[in-house]
Amino acid sequence: MTDIFETLESEVRGYCRSWPAVFTRGEGSSLTAEDGRTYLDFFSGAGALNYGHNNPQLLQPLLEYLASGAVVHSLDMKTPAKRKFLETFQDVILRPRNLDYKVMFPGPTGTNTVEAALKLARKVTGRQHILSFTNAFHGMTLGSLSVTGNSMKRRGAGIPLTNSSKIPYDDYFSGETTDFLWLERVLEDSGSGVDKPAAIIVETVQGEGGLNAARAGWLRGLSELCRKHEILLIVDDVQAGCGRTGTFFSFEEAGITPDIVCLSKSISGFGLPMALTLFRPELDVWDAGEHNGTFRGHNPAFVTATAALETYWRTGEFQQQVKARITQLHEGLERIAASVEGASVRGRGMLAGVKFADDQTAGRIAAEAYENGLLVETSGPESEVVKLMPALTISAADLDRGLDILIEATRVVTAVPELAGAH
Ligand SMILES: Cc1ncc(COP(=O)(O)O)c(C=O)c1O
Repeated sequence: MTDIFETLESEVRGYCRSWPAVFTRGEGSSLTAEDGRTYLDFFSGAGALNYGHNNPQLLQPLLEYLASGAVVHSLDMKTPAKRKFLETFQDVILRPRNLDYKVMFPGPTGTNTVEAALKLARKVTGRQHILSFTNAFHGMTLGSLSVTGNSMKRRGAGIPLTNSSKIPYDDYFSGETTDFLWLERVLEDSGSGVDKPAAIIVETVQGEGGLNAARAGWLRGLSELCRKHEILLIVDDVQAGCGRTGTFFSFEEAGITPDIVCLSKSISGFGLPMALTLFRPELDVWDAGEHNGTFRGHNPAFVTATAALETYWRTGEFQQQVKARITQLHEGLERIAASVEGASVRGRGMLAGVKFADDQTAGRIAAEAYENGLLVETSGPESEVVKLMPALTISAADLDRGLDILIEATRVVTAVPELAGAH
């Protein structure tokens, strides 16, 4: 009985075309379908389920909250749930990292926090132009699309996407040019005709644009360049944040402090919609209600977000555990890449995959993996990368099992003999 999905739901639907099962239950890294089949989920709600499906540590406080008669929806009014979240975020995330940020609740999605960041940067600087990077993805509303690279998604806007320009991401020219050569030159040349931007927005790992991972040194160079020219640096950590790369924020490894940070996806921890925009206190020039929205006070999300921070980030234990999974994941990816001519490992931490020379291969591997009970997506302008995003809480055994399915799918699709080291 799947007719209703095809007859009533819009053609815009996407993931359900690749994964047509009707999913009934979720537990940890597993999804069960109506026909009783189970699937290992290496997509984790596009990064919204870093702690797995129905994580009991988050489910229990959520159930208690809902059963207690406490407020569910509160616009941006004060509630104990919001107070607890803010206190916990300050104690567990901001203070230990010496981050002095104000916390804004934009609408509850990734694109909302990006829109808020762009508006704020323009308001603070009085400049209109924003620079973003080749192959960037920042969301589907007009402001976010204007700083996104993908031509198909941009076309969907239906109007010119203006007031932004694209500059080359790390290694766009395969190491052949000096980093930021063009940018440095035009910013210093009053005759260059390039308007000084309000901000530069960057993903430290391009989640949708092919899992390009910027080097720490490149990010530091970008941060220094922004500081020198008084351009605000926005890190869009919607996909790479909340532990995905092994640290809570993806920019920690580079040791930079962005002026503005966008978070969403796994900030609620449970898959409930929620987003944050963080910025230096001096940038907090908003007038009351200037960036508003009905769903900025979703208390169930505050409850699960608080539980996620308490459970996984209060001490360094979880981070150590994730580190071991990252090593395991990358060993598997290296084996796959080594087995196929022209393939290479992409990404960083638990946001990683394999790029294939042929544009068709990754999609075929993902389809074959699905047939064998594994959900994996593709990434990149031509969908040329198989993208793995397992839950950070995945067991070593489940991670191995998924990698085995992927190794076998790669073998079938690329028709190479048994992969060395597969088990
Ligand atoms: C880096 C980044 N920014 C923004 C977004 C948009 O988030 P949302 O789909 O919740 O609007 C995404 C979504 O994949 C993303 O990866």
